[in-house]
Amino acid sequence: MIKAITGTKDILPDEIQKWLFFEKLVREEMAFYNYQEIRTPVFEETALFARSIGEATDIVSKEMYTFIDRSEVSITLKPEMTASVVRAFIEHSLGKKQGLNKLFYISPMFRQERPQAGRLRQFHQIGVEAIGSANPVLDAEMIIIAFKILERLGLKNLSVKINSLGIPESREKYKLLLANYLQKYFEELSDDSKKRFHTNILRIFDSKDERDIQLMKNAPLLLEHLDNNSLLHFEQVRSILTNLKLPYEIEPKLVRGLDYYTHTTFEIISNSIGSQSALCGGGRYDLLIEQLGGEPTPGVGFAAGIERILLACENEKLLNLSPKIIDIYIIRLEKELFTKIYEISHQLREQGLSIEIDYLDRSVKAQMREANKLNAKYVIIIGGNEYKNNNFILKNMSNGEEKLFSADKIFELENIINE
Ligand code: HAM
Repeated sequence: MIKAITGTKDILPDEIQKWLFFEKLVREEMAFYNYQEIRTPVFEETALFARSIGEATDIVSKEMYTFIDRSEVSITLKPEMTASVVRAFIEHSLGKKQGLNKLFYISPMFRQERPQAGRLRQFHQIGVEAIGSANPVLDAEMIIIAFKILERLGLKNLSVKINSLGIPESREKYKLLLANYLQKYFEELSDDSKKRFHTNILRIFDSKDERDIQLMKNAPLLLEHLDNNSLLHFEQVRSILTNLKLPYEIEPKLVRGLDYYTHTTFEIISNSIGSQSALCGGGRYDLLIEQLGGEPTPGVGFAAGIERILLACENEKLLNLSPKIIDIYIIRLEKELFTKIYEISHQLREQGLSIEIDYLDRSVKAQMREANKLNAKYVIIIGGNEYKNNNFILKNMSNGEEKLFSADKIFELENIINE
C-alpha cells in the first residue's frame, strides 16, 4: 500500500473545520489592518532561496527539496515565502504602484527536517510582509498582529522574545569579537558548532549541545555592540510595545535561522507544545530587496506555523467548535421516490439551503439516524398516504414537533428554516 510521504499529513474532513476557522480569523485580522493576500508558486528557482536565506543556513544547506527539472533548471519547493514575496515585489514593480505594500499569505512550505511533533516536511504558514517603510512602528505591528491572532484563539503560555541584529557593519565587527572569544574554546565546541564557527558563527547561539550552551553563556552579546542608530530603532520598537502593554522579553541570543535579517527579530514561543515551541518568527530585512536585484527598499514581516498553532490549541483544549449543521435531511419512505426527492433537494439547494438525502437505499430508521448524526435542523418525510394527498411531514429536530405541510408550499420552507 502506498502511504503519504514521511513528514507530510493529510488534513481529513474532521480536522478541516479548525483550519477553516483559523484561516478565517487570520483573513479577518488582516482586513482590520488592511493587508492584501498574495499567492506565489509553490516552486521557484533554487538561486532565489540560496541568495536570500543564505548558503550557510540549515535550510539551504540541508533542508531544501531541490531537483533538476526536464529543462535542466534547478527548482526548489519553497521552504519559506519571504523570498518569493520579495521576488514578486521586484518582478511586478509593486513598489512603483504603492509606497508601502502590506501583504499576507497562507501557504504550504517544504523543509526536509527530521519529523517530530510540530515539525513536518510539508507544513503550512500564515505570513505577513510590509515592504516599503523602515518605520519601527511596522516592526512592532508585526509582533502585535502575531500576538493578537494567538490571543484571539485563547492561547495562554505565550512568550514574546525580541532582539536586534543591527546592521551588517556593526554585526561584522561583533562577529570578530565573538570569534575572538570562542577561539580559546574552539576544541571544546561540538562538531556542528566548529563548522558554524567558520560559516555562520552567530548560529552557535542556537546550539542544543550542553557544552556549547555553557560556553555561550559568557560570550559577548551583539545587543551590547550595536551602533547608535540600531539601538535607537530598537528602543522605538520597544516603547511602542510597552505603551500598548504587549508583554515581551529581550532575548539577546535570538539569532534566527535565516540570514536576511537586520534590526528587529522576534519569536513567539508556546510552552504547551514541547521542544518545537516557536509558533512564529520574523523580523526586519532592509537589505533583502536590494540583494535580490530590486531598488533599495526596507521590509519587515513574520510567519507562523499553522500545525504548531493548532497543536497548541489542542493541548490547551481550545477551538472546541460547534458541530457542523445542515438545514434539512429529506427522508423518503419508499425507494421509488428517490428521483422525486432528488429533484426537491436540487430545488431547495438552489434556494440556498443545505440539504442531505440518502443515496445508499437505507431503511427509514437508518435515514433518521443519519439525520441526527448530521445535526439536521429539520427533517422532511416524504411518502405514504401523506404523499398521496400531496402532503409531507416536517419535523423540527430541536423540539421534535411535527406538522403536515402541503407539497405546493415546499418552497416557502426557506422562511421557516431561517426564522
Ligand atoms: P521561520 O522561523 O523559519 O521563519 O518559520 C516561521 C514559523 O514556521 C516557525 O516559527 C514555525 O512555527 C513554522 N515552521 C518552520 N518550520 C517548520 C516545520 N518544519 N514544521 C512545522 N512548522 C514549521 C520564516 O519562515 C520567515 N520567512 C519568517 C519571516 C517572514 N521573516 C520575515 N518575514
